[in-house]
Amino acid sequence: MLRETILSRSFSRNDQRRLGCGAFLCCLLTALSVFILLRPYLGHIPALTLRLSPGYGHGLFAMRDESVLMRREDPTEANRGSKQDASCHLSEPVSDYCEMTGDIRVLGNLSSILIGSSQAEQMNTSQKIRPYARKPDTNAMKPIQEWSILPVVKGDREQVSPCTHNHSVPAVLFSFGGYAGNNFHAIADVIVPLFLTSRRFNQQVQFLVTNMVPWSIHRYQAIFNHLSRYEIIDIDKDRNVHCFSKAIIGLKFHEELILYPQRPPHYSMKDFREFLRTSYSLGRMTAVNLSSSPGQRPRLLIISRSKTRMFTNVLEIVALAESLGYEVTVSELTHNTTRTVQAVNSCDVMMGVHGAGLTNFLFLPDNAVLIQVVPIGGLDWHARRYFGDPARAMKVSYVEYQIKEEESSLINEYPRDHLVFRDPDELKKDRPAFTSICLEKQNVKIDVNRFRGTLARALDLLR
Ligand SMILES: *[C@@H]1O[C@H](CO)[C@@H](O)[C@H](O)[C@H]1NC(C)=O
Ligand SMILES: *[C@@H]1O[C@H](CO)[C@@H](O)[C@H](O)[C@H]1NC(C)=O
Ligand SMILES: *[C@@H]1O[C@H](CO)[C@@H](O)[C@H](O)[C@H]1NC(C)=O
Ligand SMILES: *[C@@H]1O[C@H](CO)[C@@H](O)[C@H](O)[C@H]1NC(C)=O
Ligand SMILES: *[C@@H]1O[C@H](CO)[C@@H](O)[C@H](O)[C@H]1NC(C)=O
Repeated sequence: MLRETILSRSFSRNDQRRLGCGAFLCCLLTALSVFILLRPYLGHIPALTLRLSPGYGHGLFAMRDESVLMRREDPTEANRGSKQDASCHLSEPVSDYCEMTGDIRVLGNLSSILIGSSQAEQMNTSQKIRPYARKPDTNAMKPIQEWSILPVVKGDREQVSPCTHNHSVPAVLFSFGGYAGNNFHAIADVIVPLFLTSRRFNQQVQFLVTNMVPWSIHRYQAIFNHLSRYEIIDIDKDRNVHCFSKAIIGLKFHEELILYPQRPPHYSMKDFREFLRTSYSLGRMTAVNLSSSPGQRPRLLIISRSKTRMFTNVLEIVALAESLGYEVTVSELTHNTTRTVQAVNSCDVMMGVHGAGLTNFLFLPDNAVLIQVVPIGGLDWHARRYFGDPARAMKVSYVEYQIKEEESSLINEYPRDHLVFRDPDELKKDRPAFTSICLEKQNVKIDVNRFRGTLARALDLLR
């Protein structure tokens, strides 16, 4: 049911990065020419500024369009203290969002948001947004519901859609579709961006969810409860007219599992982890310190997968770890999030094969160790980017164990001169073949003699 998209889908992005400056310049030129072409038609947009924002991703510059798409100052409305304002950010690399204040009406069953205007010509610019943070990935975006933001003249609006629900708090509308059935993506694509977007409302915010999958969203209920006091509204088939005076459509985004505190709204992953600990009432803040409590046995959690990328000799790994002094738990993580996060928080070292289950490192106590076992297939970049770098940025030590060909089950299925061993990067170009061979058919038999050093190193890191 949960497709392991985490690996397969990210190559395009990797490759994009390799295009590097060329692509960036190209985009810049295109954007400039579009801007020049459109300029005569943009008379009513008061502020369109192109600006270079520092350090997105791999130190490349990203172009940020801070354009204020719909901004109007209507003296009559302003006098009545109901200023209408919508500022849309549609040129962010990964996530589009619009922030608006004024008379806002959400029509769920029509996938539309009406924003009040008293002068039609100033608000003609309608917008379309798919509120999911994975813009460059067309596969992820295809099923995401598109929402229209439509400026509406006051008179028309009263006739068309009187409010059936007046909300006193702001709305945040986002999608829980795309890859959100996968734990990594639910957290990286939705929950961290949602934290970034809505934490500042201090629970006084109404979530409107499009592409809602109830069983999947309920896995994170504790998190939603701590971000909002109000029950989530499954908005897609809702026939009510929900009225707000403030709304954000789409989510802000910095980087997968990384928040930059220097960028607004100035939250860090440390803040996010503290928030997670509060949400799940996690008691352990720091892992065991073997220098100050030398007698204590550190706890090792082995995440065993059950369908793909399994450890086929778990018992040998357990025996090795116990001989080194660990107290070992083997867990096939379930969908009971409460139990999972408690198990993770109670351990000092967590190990597992590359995959979405490792996202649970977010619940480790400070100074704990994450051991990632990387299977065959040229996965180093992904291993580091999705788990290694974020873990290190969050006071979790990171140790990587690259398996040898002999430790992969693929050795029994493919000759040594097969592309998967010879040139996995070449194999990646055939995405379905790569996914099937490296991600779905590969199991891991750890060479315990070789692995001993890795477990010993984790002990050193606890000292
Ligand atoms: C806005 O729409 C109205 C009615 O459709 C039209 O008359 C007007 O010219 C439009 N204004 C702009 C700036 O496109
Ligand atoms: C919502 O507020 C508007 C304006 O104050 C009011 O006319 C309308 O009756 C209210 N609707 C509901 C359902 O409370
Ligand atoms: C959406 O809801 C409104 C209000 O109940 C109703 O008038 C309209 O027919 C509905 N549209 C669709 C497409 O279901
Ligand atoms: C563990 O305790 C020792 C001695 O009390 C201390 O010097 C060391 O900094 C501690 N290590 C960590 C990671 O806190
Ligand atoms: C999930 O696990 C917790 C802690 O073990 C338990 O209290 C709870 O009943 C479980 N929930 C479900 C739905 O099984």
